[in-house]
Amino acid sequence: MSPAFERRLADAPAAARELRALRDLLRWAISRFECAGIAYGHGTDNARDEAAALLLWALHLPPGPLAPWLGARLTLLERRAVVELVERRIALRTPAAYLTGEAWLRGMRFACDARALVPRSLIAEALDEALPQWLELHPRTPCWPAAILDLCTGGGSLAILAADRFPDAQVVGADLSAEALALAATNRESHGLQQRVELVQGDLFAPLRAHRFDLILCNPPYVNEASMQALPPEFRAEPRAALAGGRDGMDLVRRIIADAPAHLADEGVLLLEIGHEAAHFEAAFPELEFHYLPVTAGDRMLVLVEAAQLAAAAARLAAAAARPGTTAARRARRPAGAARKPRPPSARRTAARPPGRRP
Ligand SMILES: C[S@@+](CC[C@H](N)C(=O)[O-])C[C@H]1O[C@@H](n2cnc3c(N)ncnc32)[C@H](O)[C@@H]1O
Repeated sequence: MSPAFERRLADAPAAARELRALRDLLRWAISRFECAGIAYGHGTDNARDEAAALLLWALHLPPGPLAPWLGARLTLLERRAVVELVERRIALRTPAAYLTGEAWLRGMRFACDARALVPRSLIAEALDEALPQWLELHPRTPCWPAAILDLCTGGGSLAILAADRFPDAQVVGADLSAEALALAATNRESHGLQQRVELVQGDLFAPLRAHRFDLILCNPPYVNEASMQALPPEFRAEPRAALAGGRDGMDLVRRIIADAPAHLADEGVLLLEIGHEAAHFEAAFPELEFHYLPVTAGDRMLVLVEAAQLAAAAARLAAAAARPGTTAARRARRPAGAARKPRPPSARRTAARPPGRRP
């Protein structure tokens, strides 16, 4: 049997020397990324978009479509800069945003480095799309939300986006990590939001004392242990404490669901990102009624729970726990973090998608 044909690619010096137009370098960068098998997921999900974002940044071009520039010829210095950045992305296997020091989310720029997760929360899209649609069907008072909490704020992107989308609201961003909060402070300053975004440090709700909020946004660490073990290097470059959610991903989520009622106003809403952990979430909270808010990435990745639903679930659990011998009593005695096997979705979940939206 003859050996498989060996494909070859121009090395970095040859690429910088011989490829003249931006279009050529884009093609080369895509080939390099495909060949190296890098992982995506920090703002892009394919080689072309990753290459385009890096090329635009390296050439000081505005973020957006690359198409208007494809025919542009580059100087040798520019070509070398592009080639070096592409090679660095491959060699370090670090998210592009950590190389460029910035990330864009819903049209806003955020300073970005390894002190915090690269901003990409699905909650950002929901603030513009699914949440306003849900609110049309579940109206609140006109001044809602006056107080917003971004729990687990990291570099502060969601707190800042929320302050931008709800200009009359006061926003608090809370996180355990002092390093992440230092980055959040930089971002708050660059968006001129020192007066409306407060940053506090501590374990979940602890620094918030008895304060209540109309809207709590939370993108907690929720990656389950098996998925953590399989993370590609790009994700391992991010702080582990920003991702790891314990055996079933629900370690922090359990505490958030338990403590949120004490921090939500009467018409309050908790908007919680759970990513691909819907089965684990449903298994962990069989007594809880909630809504899924659909986003482009999926229909069961964002959970919306109303204050009344949280209170009702807590009351149901307490009542059942008072009856000895019931499953709920056994569940109430189960140590925190001891989850059961996931079970299929049940009727207690309510569809949050307004009529006429995607199937
Ligand atoms: C998934 S990141 C989210 C960051 C940011 N909100 C975003 O969406 O880009 C989770 C954040 O939770 C923080 N965190 C982890 N454990 C925490 C705890 N016990 N209390 C408060 N924050 C915690 C981490 O430091 C990290 O910044």
